[in-house]
Amino acid sequence: MNSRDRLRIAIQKSGRLTEPALGLLKRCGLTFRQSRDKLFCFGEGEPVDLLLVRDDDIPGLIAQSVCDLGIVGRNVLAEFSLARAAEGAHLREWRALGFGRCRLSIAVPQTLDYCGSWQLAGQRIATSYPTLLRQWLDEQGIAVEVVTLAGSVEIAPRLGTADSICDLVQSGATLAANQLQEVDVLLESEAVLAGAETPPTDERGDMLELLLKRLDGVIQLRESCLLWLQTPKDALDAIIRKLPDGAQPTLFPLAGQPDQLMLQALCSGEVSWRRMEEIKRAGASGMFVVPVEKMLA
Ligand code: PRP
Ligand code: ZN
Repeated sequence: MNSRDRLRIAIQKSGRLTEPALGLLKRCGLTFRQSRDKLFCFGEGEPVDLLLVRDDDIPGLIAQSVCDLGIVGRNVLAEFSLARAAEGAHLREWRALGFGRCRLSIAVPQTLDYCGSWQLAGQRIATSYPTLLRQWLDEQGIAVEVVTLAGSVEIAPRLGTADSICDLVQSGATLAANQLQEVDVLLESEAVLAGAETPPTDERGDMLELLLKRLDGVIQLRESCLLWLQTPKDALDAIIRKLPDGAQPTLFPLAGQPDQLMLQALCSGEVSWRRMEEIKRAGASGMFVVPVEKMLA
């Protein structure tokens, strides 16, 4: 492992994961000076730099220790890991990041009355994920010809170069536009933070630990909010029963109002209008919900 004193994170240069990845890193307190070629961005606050690359190159860059971490789809990571497992290129998914959700699926022409994977036997299936597809086909016990394409997989059936495809599906718009139907899901994917199996042992390891803690705070808080309300003491039990599941209430006395309490509760997920109305009916007043910006456990 080559020694560096700054952590290097690779993200997709331009694509669906670029903006959310940058936004997430920013929320973790990482900001970058934009360089002219936009390939390497120097981190301004923390000793963390950014590499902007093609998403498919990210696992390889981590395996070669060119960078320490990468934000990449689980699909890309899984394909790499499976294809290169024999060479000992072990990567690890440090965290699932909750954006860029999609599925790696088999899609067949809409005109096919699909009843099961056995119907794929003898077909040619186009994909950019040959190793994941092979593994799935082996599990199903069916023999097909896998046609590996770098991109534009969805047009292969129309061009006659394949009968079906195995590709990423997010909204389904690409499949619909190509008269294909999604029939089997091989992998549920989302953006993940990937890294080498063994974390760096120098200062970069400390920075990684710090980043993971911040990430956990950001991920946990993404949907969290803080609920405040005032309640008569005798309505407290009823109100606590109406709080969202898992909400942790803290109570404060109110000066000059011995029969009243102030309640604060951290809620994971949003608090709906309906819920607030129920809480109000149970006796609460002066209720408000505020977003939580940072949290350190
Ligand atoms: C993926 C995939 C499909 C499309 C599916 O490509 O290969 O073409 O997205 O999304 P949809 O269901 O919302 O239509 P992407 O745009 O991520 O580009 P890439 O495969 O070249 O990385
Ligand atoms: Zn790609």
